[in-house]
Amino acid sequence: MRVHRIAAIGADGIGPEVISAGLEVLEALAARDGGFRLEVEHFPWSSEYYLRHGHYIPEGGLEKLKTFDAIFFGAVGSQQVPDHVSLWGLRLPIVQGFDQYANVRPARVLPGVKSPLQNGDKIDWVIIRENSEGEYAGNGGRAHRGLPIEVGTETAVFTRVGVERIHRFAFELARKRPRKHLTLVTKSNAQRYGMVMWDEIFYEVAKDYPDVKTDRELVDAVTTRMVLKPQTLDVVVATNLHADILSDLAAALSGSLGIAPTANLNPERRFPSMFEPIHGSAFDITGKGIANPVATFWTAAMMLEHLGEGAAAHRLMEAVEAVTASGLQTPDLGGKATTAEVTREVCRRIAG
Ligand code: IPM
Ligand code: MG
Repeated sequence: MRVHRIAAIGADGIGPEVISAGLEVLEALAARDGGFRLEVEHFPWSSEYYLRHGHYIPEGGLEKLKTFDAIFFGAVGSQQVPDHVSLWGLRLPIVQGFDQYANVRPARVLPGVKSPLQNGDKIDWVIIRENSEGEYAGNGGRAHRGLPIEVGTETAVFTRVGVERIHRFAFELARKRPRKHLTLVTKSNAQRYGMVMWDEIFYEVAKDYPDVKTDRELVDAVTTRMVLKPQTLDVVVATNLHADILSDLAAALSGSLGIAPTANLNPERRFPSMFEPIHGSAFDITGKGIANPVATFWTAAMMLEHLGEGAAAHRLMEAVEAVTASGLQTPDLGGKATTAEVTREVCRRIAG
């Protein structure tokens, strides 16, 4: 029996609701498969926990997390805690501490889901986000607070190692897809140091992948291409901030933020990787039982894939797609179903 140890961190807003739905389908898959079992441990780290204890991750917390095979993460962000505090308190210490430098964000219009684009069915993208440095390097400061001469800096940091490894990861992934096409997203027309190096290293790495077709697009221009010519994109590699923005657009174009998954990978597996829906806490619907669990199911499929359970991952996506196709959908997709109804139906199809 294969045993996978999962650290579950529901955290804020609808996070705990969707993580619990995700664990239900994972249990159903393990039961159906018979070859693997999950050992799940829940961690209560959230913004509420922070307000009570003064920290998100307690001392020794990261050391403990390190012993797991994967982290299944809900969402962080609360109206009671400034966003930069919650993000740097919980999500970024894990992502950066565990060197999860490759953030993988697939986008596709699932059956039965309507894209706002006429030719939205052409969307089949994977956005690769550099996840360890760039604009999120935390390199900056403030001085003369409150005075007229106050200054704030936020300097993006690009290292050769950081840039090369993300481009290589993107080429490896592009090579495995039928179209074998990789688009470099950049802003090297306006930013002439880090971004020019970003481009140069891309073309150095490209020499090792003659089978992958490439092109280069400025980040502003790629947004119009995503909307007007979605079929021309396949794998896209972009910096931390650029890909953050592009992946929200990709999620909206594929029907809803409620279906978009993500994996924060440490490809060398020195540390556990973390899997999360990209939608965030969504206070407006927290506790109403109508959060779309599909993003978390898709996320769970990516986690299974990473754990070597490809057959279960495939079965899960088949069940999810059958359910979206049937019209049983939560309100973000225009339906009336609850989180529990969608979860139950996915579990039923997994068992069936
Ligand atoms: C994401 C989110 C986060 C990010 C937020 C919560 C800071 O938008 O994962 O895309 O920008 O990294
Ligand atoms: Mg984002």
